[in-house]
Amino acid sequence: MSTITSGLQGLALAALATAASGAGMQGTTYGFGTTPSATELARFFSPHPDGRGLPPGSGSVLEGKSVYQQQCASCHGENLQGGIGDRLIGGRGSLVNADPKKPPVKTVESYWPYATTLFDYIKRSMPLTVPDSLTDDQVYAVSAYILEQAKIIPEDAIMNAESLPKVAMPNRDGFLPDRRPDRFPPAARAPHQDLAIAPAAK
Ligand code: HEC
Repeated sequence: MSTITSGLQGLALAALATAASGAGMQGTTYGFGTTPSATELARFFSPHPDGRGLPPGSGSVLEGKSVYQQQCASCHGENLQGGIGDRLIGGRGSLVNADPKKPPVKTVESYWPYATTLFDYIKRSMPLTVPDSLTDDQVYAVSAYILEQAKIIPEDAIMNAESLPKVAMPNRDGFLPDRRPDRFPPAARAPHQDLAIAPAAK
């Protein structure tokens, strides 16, 4: 190892040590910021495809319809056909086709592999002008409505932390985990990758 590299590593280690000893007192060390509380950190969860991290609560298709009409339709269209915001449904089977003149139609219905992403995305970023304003029940409900309009779940379905991860998205098999063992050794694979979304490599 050259002196320069080991010197740099020494610096990096020193920086780490400083950060570690400063944990809990950023305010005094740097003069700004505070240490986030456990409650604050919990707000930045990101649910996994298998449902880990989804909050309590639930919502029906009917409740979701009313959330959608009041808070989403102005941008995504009365029939989820898009407008200022993306088209949310349709296009199933259009991503891979032999006709070069047929453009792929990328929507929640045709593209997204996991229903839990819908909850995460809507909770964090929608409605565009007031993100993070919906309750968890409203997010479950409006996710249910979009999935029902996409004919993925039935009209009487209730979405919650148990049912949402079980929704089989039409394009789930369109995504393949990276199977290069040198890049992603089995030990480094996230637990959700055990949810087989593609046949195991021979
Ligand atoms: C003010 C306009 C506006 C409103 C209101 C709005 N959206 Fe959006 N939405 C957008 C835009 C613009 C995008 C694209 C954002 C991007 O690509 O960065 C988007 C993207 C999305 C996507 C991702 C689509 C995709 O395929 O990538 C979803 C899902 C979504 N919105 C759901 C909702 C829901 C549910 C509501 C109501 C609770 C809502 N939106 C309200 C403008 C809006």
